Amino acid sequence: MSRREFLRTSAAGATVATAALSSLDALAAAEAQGGPQSAEEVAVIEPYWREVRQAFTLDPSLINLNNGNTPPSPQTVHEAFKRHLDDSNRLPMHYLTLQARVEEVRRELATEFGCDPAELALTRNATESLHIAQLGLDLRPGDEVITTDQDYPRMLWLWDQRARREGIVIKRVQFPVPTTAADLLQRFESAITPRTRVMHFCHITNTTGQLFPVRELSRLARARGIVSIVDGAQAVAHLPFQLRDLECDLYGTSLHKWLMAPKGTGFLYVRRDMIERVWPLYAAPDSMRGDVRKFEEIGTHPTAARAAIAEALTFHRAVGGERKAARLRYLTMRWINGLRSRPQVRILSSLEPNETWGLASFAIQGVNAATVVPMLLEKHGIVVSAAVNQGLPGPVLDYSGVRVTPSIYTSIEEIDRFIAAVRTLL
Ligand SMILES: Cc1ncc(COP(=O)(O)O)c(C=O)c1O
Repeated sequence: MSRREFLRTSAAGATVATAALSSLDALAAAEAQGGPQSAEEVAVIEPYWREVRQAFTLDPSLINLNNGNTPPSPQTVHEAFKRHLDDSNRLPMHYLTLQARVEEVRRELATEFGCDPAELALTRNATESLHIAQLGLDLRPGDEVITTDQDYPRMLWLWDQRARREGIVIKRVQFPVPTTAADLLQRFESAITPRTRVMHFCHITNTTGQLFPVRELSRLARARGIVSIVDGAQAVAHLPFQLRDLECDLYGTSLHKWLMAPKGTGFLYVRRDMIERVWPLYAAPDSMRGDVRKFEEIGTHPTAARAAIAEALTFHRAVGGERKAARLRYLTMRWINGLRSRPQVRILSSLEPNETWGLASFAIQGVNAATVVPMLLEKHGIVVSAAVNQGLPGPVLDYSGVRVTPSIYTSIEEIDRFIAAVRTLL
């Protein structure tokens, strides 16, 4: 099929689908296709995923492989968001009704991701969640924080700012990609000193999807009296896990990424014993000292996005976390297998099962990823992003990668068009 034919048929399909199906109808239809098979079996049933795709209103002129950024929400989620916005504008008191819905959202998120509702604060994104954690801890000049040079830049800026302002010391662990859990554990362990107060790391990194051994690192931290802060922006609703199993102290995430909730949603998990110890970013009364809601005292803000997390959770559950993860891995392994045999290509992500799902990167020898990203967009209508490590120069630590993040609406035809486009560039 030519590119023009492809776009024409996709556009026509999208219009019909939008008119005829709501997201949940599409999922019910998909369920009929999927049946009771295992997640891995369902991952390869194309009619199932074609129905899932109908739950989204997509731009048919582009192939979006940048879903690790801010993916589209399913139509039911976006409609709910708009409805809540309209209702609260019609009668601002409606805000109070929505507030009750937010409490329901807290309970349901806690059930889905495995913690007590009393440990979960709703925020606007991972940045807000992690900044609360990073700024909420009392630290003295000379106290040390261990993080990595592949953590998210905004969180690294915050630690650097505290270092400039308060004289704390930041140690950035470096590591090659991909690497192993044992290697990461060893690198953190050898960076610990008697002055270490905090260990801050990603659950999976945004650049290459490197998975961290969160539970082992959190246990190591706790055994030495160190607070563990985990950046879960790329992990929640992407790979299946329960927060309580991670044993970390604080965990911050966005929900507009892999949960596909409205933009401007996230949560902060604070282990019960830690709540009193962490100061909120915006002041709250002392009576709220042990209440996780003290982290939500941010003044008037739109509640519509938060309330519509409920629909995003419904959608997530209807597909199923295990199925999502299995499908994302299947799509990722398809493009990796289509490119890995090329001599110029180096895959920067682990190929092991249960280590990589929908976020992986590759480098092209001698080519700056920043030049590949616009070429794929302009010549092939494919959206990806650059994954660049600012670490030490050298073949292992200094990579310039292209990050590929499909979604559950991504078709194998789109993945194959991506493989063909990269082969053409090569
Ligand atoms: C690992 C990681 N942490 C934090 C963030 C920040 O997320 P947000 O902009 O939603 O606050 C991102 C965004 O891409 C990320 O990938």
